[in-house]
Amino acid sequence: MDTSRQRRTEGSLVLGLETSCDETAAAVVLRAADGSGRILANVVRTQWERHRPYGGVVPEIAARAHVECLDILIRDAMREAGAGFPDLDAVAATAGPGLIGGLIVGLVTGKAIALACRLPFLAVHHLEAHALTVGLTEGLKPPYLLLLVSGGHTQLLVVRGVGNYERLGTTIDDALGEAFDKTAKLLGLGFPGGPAVEQAARAGNAARFDLPRPMMGREEPHFSFAGLKTAVRRTAEALAPLKPQDVADIAAGFQAAVVQSVADRCRRAMDIAAQRLGQGAPRHFVVAGGVAANERLRASLRGLAEERGFSFHVPPAELCSDNAAMIAWAGAERLALGLIDPLDAAVRPRWPLDLDAQPAIGAGVKA
Ligand code: KG4
Ligand code: ZN
Repeated sequence: MDTSRQRRTEGSLVLGLETSCDETAAAVVLRAADGSGRILANVVRTQWERHRPYGGVVPEIAARAHVECLDILIRDAMREAGAGFPDLDAVAATAGPGLIGGLIVGLVTGKAIALACRLPFLAVHHLEAHALTVGLTEGLKPPYLLLLVSGGHTQLLVVRGVGNYERLGTTIDDALGEAFDKTAKLLGLGFPGGPAVEQAARAGNAARFDLPRPMMGREEPHFSFAGLKTAVRRTAEALAPLKPQDVADIAAGFQAAVVQSVADRCRRAMDIAAQRLGQGAPRHFVVAGGVAANERLRASLRGLAEERGFSFHVPPAELCSDNAAMIAWAGAERLALGLIDPLDAAVRPRWPLDLDAQPAIGAGVKA
């Protein structure tokens, strides 16, 4: 396609970079003047092989791996998009939250390109990028209720607009993706844990063990997974050594418990969101983040949304896990509003989406 700046009179072409955790990614996205989006290139290289021997992401290894391949991925993405640097309208990079070493790699690279090409620079919030992905994939615009479930975050938010979030619920201990990863480790299923637990659960009997459904029925739509994790560990220890069927049954039992608990929390959040947004406001329910790739969770939440009169939206699996198309898109959305960042914008390893949100009850609040 013809991406040259002179001939493309409308819209903006944005290069996005993602380096906040264990995926290095570069993408080129076109945002048309009517607000619709199109992915021209989306290149992702995962570092799982590097981290697997350690059973989790090692920050220093992650940062080094980003340095080694980010330039190659940018070249590939630009080639695939048929674009040169002069064709770009802006550069966007993840500024946080995430692992500081990796964030610095992406942010500095993005700034260098912006400086050299005299382009606007956008320091993107990684969670905002997950939150806005449905605008790229389905053209859905705020307001909507969002369940954001990733390796580090589990939140229910009312998305009112770009940069405008009201947090309704968060986890008081582990994030949902973290709970999947820890369960996988305990069951010897490897890394990353979410897809491995989902796969193992397919052959399992979810009803074999009586596992707790954390936070069910609580007024505020917060989450907790630490107690369930302990119950899973006790169940596994009581049966050790585990046979393949035991592993499948525990995985299925764990997945059923989290799906039921999450659905209950979302049901509560739907009631609150409907009140907050008022009568006549559209009722949309969006699920995003790496764990949104889970088929059982998607199916359960789709059913819940239908039951409560909400339309249901979830990005395709490859755009749920970390990628740079979502970063480029969030950058393009901010650019359209004139929300450009200075070249001395800092990385923000901890960066809440809703700055006014009060800490949730519980001791070990992480999100
Ligand atoms: O959003 P993401 O790619 O990275 C972060 O920003 O954290 O989410 C990664 C998390 C990991 O914990 C991974 O195990 C989990 O998402 N995940 C899944 C599935 N695919 C990825 N969890 C459950 N089922 C899946 N199919
Ligand atoms: Zn993420």
